[in-house]
Amino acid sequence: MQKDTIIIRQEQPKDYAAVEMLTREAFWNVYCPGCSEHYLAHVMRAHKDFIPELTFVAECGGEIAASIMYMRSWLEDDAGNRMETLSFGPISVHPDHQRRGLGKRIMAHSFEAAAAMGYPAVVIFGNPENYVSSGFKSCKRYNVTIEGGAFPTALFVRELREGALDGRHYVYRESDVCELLLPEKVEEFDRQFPPKEKAWMPSQEKFYIYSHSTVG
Ligand SMILES: CC(C)(COP(=O)(O)OP(=O)(O)OC[C@H]1O[C@@H](n2cnc3c(N)ncnc32)[C@H](O)[C@@H]1OP(=O)(O)O)[C@@H](O)C(=O)NCCC(=O)NCCS
Repeated sequence: MQKDTIIIRQEQPKDYAAVEMLTREAFWNVYCPGCSEHYLAHVMRAHKDFIPELTFVAECGGEIAASIMYMRSWLEDDAGNRMETLSFGPISVHPDHQRRGLGKRIMAHSFEAAAAMGYPAVVIFGNPENYVSSGFKSCKRYNVTIEGGAFPTALFVRELREGALDGRHYVYRESDVCELLLPEKVEEFDRQFPPKEKAWMPSQEKFYIYSHSTVG
């Protein structure tokens, strides 16, 4: 196999440990000192909202270099009708492979599969720099809010079918999977990995700003 051949395929049980290690490497110190996303990857596979058919890995030279994991989410209109949508995360590209288009490739692959399954849209919280070039737009453009009516700066929508969101007001409803992120469980799980130093990085402040802002 050529060193830089990239194969994107569905995640299999034999990949779990490698994906969790990759997720830890990708997220470590980016949003807070240390990270919890590798624990999330570990526990979310058993959650009722997890979607294994949309959980992909990218192999580069035979090694897992990227991963994307999907959960169900919902958009609820003012009459209480719920449309099932998708949310992904963690999405991880190994630091040695970042900023070379691999994140965009694995996202594009997953969107094609999700559209073929009939899903109308992907809704995520994240850093706009990573997502606007993959077709995500501010939630405000689609009249999607969180409970209480705010348009978070970090909330994005990508239609998988043009016009799937018809302009009516929707409230984004997430899976309760993040309730599994208990700090003591994260710490305990992390002790299975090689020691790694927790540190402050400027990206943590950037994340604080994005995640505490709204589009006016
Ligand atoms: C976020 C992540 C998945 C993106 O994957 P990637 O392979 O590094 O990114 P790509 O090369 O596919 O680029 C995606 C977009 O990021 C932005 N980007 C790329 N390089 C960048 C850089 N040096 N600085 C800022 N933004 C950059 C661009 O908008 C790019 O789109 P473009 O093609 O229009 O330039 C990856 O960097 C990662 O795993 N980061 C750590 C974990 C993380 O933050 N996950 C996301 C949680 S919200």
